[in-house]
Amino acid sequence: MAGTLFIDGAFVAAKTGESLDVIDPATEAVIATVAAAGPADIDLAVSAARRAFDTGPWPSLSGAARAAVLQNIADGIRAAAGELARLEVQDNGKPLPEADWDIADAAGCFEFYAGLAAGFDGHEEEAIALPDARFSACARREPVGVVGAIIPWNYPLLMAAWKVAPALAAGCTVVLKPSELTPLTAVRLAAIARDAGLPPGVLNVVTGAGPAGQALADHPGVDKLAFTGSVPTGSKVMQAAARDIKRVSLELGGKSPFLVFADSDVGKVVEWIMFGIFWNQGQVCSATSRVLVERPLYQAVVDRLATEARRIVIGGGFEAGVKLGPLVSAGQYAKVEAAIARGIAGGARLVAGGRRPEGRPKGYFLEPTVFADVPFDSFIWKEEIFGPVVCLAPFDSEDAAIAEANNSRFGLAAAVMSADDARTARVARRLRAGIVWINCSQPTFTEAPWGGYKQSGFGRELGRWGFENYLETKQITRFDADEPWGWYL
Ligand code: NAI
Ligand code: MG
Repeated sequence: MAGTLFIDGAFVAAKTGESLDVIDPATEAVIATVAAAGPADIDLAVSAARRAFDTGPWPSLSGAARAAVLQNIADGIRAAAGELARLEVQDNGKPLPEADWDIADAAGCFEFYAGLAAGFDGHEEEAIALPDARFSACARREPVGVVGAIIPWNYPLLMAAWKVAPALAAGCTVVLKPSELTPLTAVRLAAIARDAGLPPGVLNVVTGAGPAGQALADHPGVDKLAFTGSVPTGSKVMQAAARDIKRVSLELGGKSPFLVFADSDVGKVVEWIMFGIFWNQGQVCSATSRVLVERPLYQAVVDRLATEARRIVIGGGFEAGVKLGPLVSAGQYAKVEAAIARGIAGGARLVAGGRRPEGRPKGYFLEPTVFADVPFDSFIWKEEIFGPVVCLAPFDSEDAAIAEANNSRFGLAAAVMSADDARTARVARRLRAGIVWINCSQPTFTEAPWGGYKQSGFGRELGRWGFENYLETKQITRFDADEPWGWYL
């Protein structure tokens, strides 16, 4: 599978002649190889996207015409859903039911933006009231141009959809670089988009590692960068964007807090803590990895969570009943193991997990891990682990809990649970985060804005906000009067 670069409507091999192995994290076996794009390949892909934007039909089609293609892509994803979900399991390690859900969400995302594209017809221009009757003006929304989309490995097809669907809906053209750890569904998406009638060059997919992402970020032919991933890489992308004033949106990491008040039901608390940190092996940017529990309920939550965490069925994503698969890679496994060791050394109390499960010598498997009494100044309380590791600590007052929740350089998400609706509404307003869940953690809807405060990034994906991300605003002002302007003549 060397010809995995999709450029100008055709699959081609990399000019570098290099390839990358794709590994199944449950078996550590190489399941495929993909092309490793270099700067020359990125240049071809950006040039194709540039031509498609500057001289092709896509940006000036009606919204309805673009919507028809986006709907075809949604249908194409649904038709291939079983195959896509299996690829995602092999590539990322997640349990099959989670992968099924991701693929359905990815199709739903294309369908949602098909709806926005169609609804845009007739609304691209908005008249502006001016105080001078000789003039009339309108504000017009236009596609931002060529988009460089760089995405991570935790939700491979879904993260592609979150960027590609709104960008295409807006009339942009795209160069998409999937993660080197999980490139397979992005390559399939290229074929689905081609078969859906997307013109050549409108979506280009380049497989490759960090250097390919850097070449895309650096390329002067790109108008906007959309990135999801780690803070250090996001910083590099922003620096590259700064050089020639590219538009940029960043969705980075988090250390999201979950505030639990003592009037909550312990079973519901434990269920949502688990969903907030063990779903997708905890490899979720919005994972609620810091849990603050009001002291009267604290011990009961710690005990029940430790018991339930030990009951989670661990295994390969195709095994029945599995709720926790392997981590995505050897590198991620080593990073999470090192964080657990630092947690123990830093004085936190390990109450469940922390090791490789019995009988799983192969694969990047790790037990779901619960730390209690985690010091607020410790590494594991402050830093993103991006694995199935949750930190708990007690609190004594609402104000103290909010202060500690906000005491982070991140601000992607937060959650609050209480039987008191006035309290949850009050706390939700005071949390410094772009996403706040009340009485739950993680459910995500395509319709609602997604993105972070502080070092968790800026710009919003999803909903109409995600569409705006890919639009420029132009004013058009007309002199309507018959009389001369009369300044020089
Ligand atoms: P990363 O941020 O390095 O990779 C994300 C994407 O950026 C990949 O497609 C990668 O190839 C690309 N990339 C790497 N270097 C680049 C560069 N210099 N310029 C442009 N693109 C570049 O994330 P990585 O190494 O896979 O994971 C490291 C940590 O990042 C994780 O342990 C986790 O803490 C965090 N992370 C956060 C994610 C989120 O959703 N916010 C997703 C994935 C990782
Ligand atoms: Mg893989």
